[in-house]
Amino acid sequence: MSNTDPIGSLTWAVRDSLMRYVTVIAGGSFDIDGPASIDGSGVFTFPLVRAESSDGGWRLMFSGSLHFTAHHGLLDIRIIDPEIVVRPASGTLYARTDADSPALTAIVELGAAAPTEDGADLAWDAVPSQLLDSAVEMFGSVYPAGTPMAPLGIRITIDS
Ligand code: HEM
Repeated sequence: MSNTDPIGSLTWAVRDSLMRYVTVIAGGSFDIDGPASIDGSGVFTFPLVRAESSDGGWRLMFSGSLHFTAHHGLLDIRIIDPEIVVRPASGTLYARTDADSPALTAIVELGAAAPTEDGADLAWDAVPSQLLDSAVEMFGSVYPAGTPMAPLGIRITIDS
């Protein structure tokens, strides 16, 4: 299935200690651009813009961007238009990390999680995530590969 006007969302807090560090310890801030949003507990939501089924799994493209800044711009972390490839036993979250480049960085590996189905709705709740090697540098090489990041939630409606 390929769907260009789907309904769904990705919810992800990135990492609680990162948010605390940037906004409290380092005295920095974060901006949200496009259709992403944040709730009262610091969880970001990115709306789904495209869903494709592939190899028994899904490739899900979301829209919106986060930008963390601190230390007078030395800390400059962007997470732009995330994408998730999710299969029954594995998954990866990718995003653009440079506003001037379309290249995707693999950011976290998802723990195995089967979706729950409710009619046309599929939901993956509290999916564990771990930092991948390819994303160590974007966080200032402070978190080693394998560091637990915030759990993810994914919701999609597959008819329409
Ligand atoms: C002026 C330069 C910087 C200084 C003085 C600085 C200082 C610190 C300090 C003191 C901590 C420990 C905070 C704590 O847990 O109490 C820390 C953590 C951290 N720093 Fe920096 N830092 C600098 C630049 C950067 C840059 C450029 C990045 C990223 C690109 C970065 C990313 C991080 C991250 C991800 C943590 C771990 C936060 C956590 O999860 O607890 N820092 N830094």
